[in-house]
Amino acid sequence: MLHEIPILEDLDTRKLPYAETNGRRQVYLETYGCQMNVSDSEIVAAVLRESGYGLTRDAAQADVVLLNTCAIRENAEQKVRHRLDHLRAQKRKRTGALTIGVLGCMAERLRHRLLEQEQLIDLVAGPDAYRDLPRLLQETQETGQAAINVQLSREETYADIAPVRVDSNGVSAFVSIMRGCDNMCAFCVVPFTRGRERSRPFTTILDECQKLVEEGYKEVTLLGQNVNSYRDGKVNFAALLWRLSAAAPTLRIRYSTSHPKDCTDELLHVHQACDNVCDYIHLPVQHGNSAVLQRMRRGYTIDTYLHLIARARTICPGVSISTDIITGFCGETEAEHRDTLALLEQVRYDHAYMFMYSERPDTYAAKKYRDDVPHWVKKRRLTEVIQLQSSIALQNNQAEIGKVHTVLVEGNSRRSADQLRGRTDTNKMVVFDRQQYAKGQYAKVQITGCTSATLLGKAVEPA
Ligand code: SAH
Ligand code: SF4
Ligand code: F3S
Repeated sequence: MLHEIPILEDLDTRKLPYAETNGRRQVYLETYGCQMNVSDSEIVAAVLRESGYGLTRDAAQADVVLLNTCAIRENAEQKVRHRLDHLRAQKRKRTGALTIGVLGCMAERLRHRLLEQEQLIDLVAGPDAYRDLPRLLQETQETGQAAINVQLSREETYADIAPVRVDSNGVSAFVSIMRGCDNMCAFCVVPFTRGRERSRPFTTILDECQKLVEEGYKEVTLLGQNVNSYRDGKVNFAALLWRLSAAAPTLRIRYSTSHPKDCTDELLHVHQACDNVCDYIHLPVQHGNSAVLQRMRRGYTIDTYLHLIARARTICPGVSISTDIITGFCGETEAEHRDTLALLEQVRYDHAYMFMYSERPDTYAAKKYRDDVPHWVKKRRLTEVIQLQSSIALQNNQAEIGKVHTVLVEGNSRRSADQLRGRTDTNKMVVFDRQQYAKGQYAKVQITGCTSATLLGKAVEPA
């Protein structure tokens, strides 16, 4: 994915890459979790900068440290708790005051409990409360007491706030188009942390993308927890893509994360008809067995899902498809687990994000089912899923050898400044020798080799 951030995972700590001083209070912002959180941090940066705060990339220089957190799995929360332990130790040692704040999904999930459990936290703000941050910061500074706002909203989309794209590579940008989720899958905390679904007016999205084009951006990823259920009056997601594609024909358009139930034929036809709408769709299946899908409350069966995959491949030949998988959900039998392996064999995804089930308090599954698959079994099943999927991804990538792809260059490869990296229309990462190419350019690259995660190639001509 963009900046190689997994779709909704908490692997990297991302930091704002620059400092602004001038005697203002300095904020250090750290982002965990999904792309939505990265995008929200850009809103937070805009709100704070507007009200006179500086942004720093050095936590030691900061007067305020804000963690934008994720609650999707237990280990995502653990990571933040460890970080808070560390920050509190620093706070005790410091002579100057240090304000520590928790934003995002953990703030929403734990609310007041966070202040009780994690003493020395000064501020807690949920995902819909970011406009209130300046007031909350002032309140905690003046009173010495913790300040909290975890109110969820039915309207807030931050549509009028121009994000400060502090962590951007200047080539690809995130644009949030909807927030929240109404689906209530049995395992998932997101509807509780992000609240009800709401969409941003489509004109503000077109305007923001137009501005990005003027600033030299080449690619946008439209974001939402359930991005393809977007709707503004008569404009549904397919219509939005169609309009955006026409309004910004030079902009590559991606989106994340989509739900199978909202992937309509109309949307597939937009992929097919619009050159700049990428031939890549993330269709998280979660499991390969219909009884488990029903327990998960996903709203589709394996038959309807496979039918969707077939339609996608018919309407949009060559489309690349990725997925999310959970192993060890409540009551999962060995036979049900094997159905997931069989589904992977059948669909042959280009990529998958794979997780062990982690029970989240207050969800339907936590209330109604027993988390009865032992940890070691969940883990063993996850390993089997990962091994099978990487062999399939490797075979899919091997089939690319010899083909020529148009690659948008995102920057230097991780290993060497002599090599560049970028992605194909189908969202595959390609590494190739720099030659005359630079960040932000398109290159036609012939694929010469691969691993299960990356294609290797040679630029053959400018795109
Ligand atoms: N809205 C997207 C997914 C958002 S969460 C969709 O419905 O497809 C991203 C992924 O995290 C999910 O697809 C799921 O695979 C995983 N996930 C969510 N809750 C989880 C849990 N409790 N334990 C393990 N994985 C979980
Ligand atoms: Fe969670 Fe389901 Fe909503 Fe995705 S669709 S965010 S898995 S509740
Ligand atoms: Fe995590 Fe919240 Fe995103 S729970 S995955 S940061 S929506």
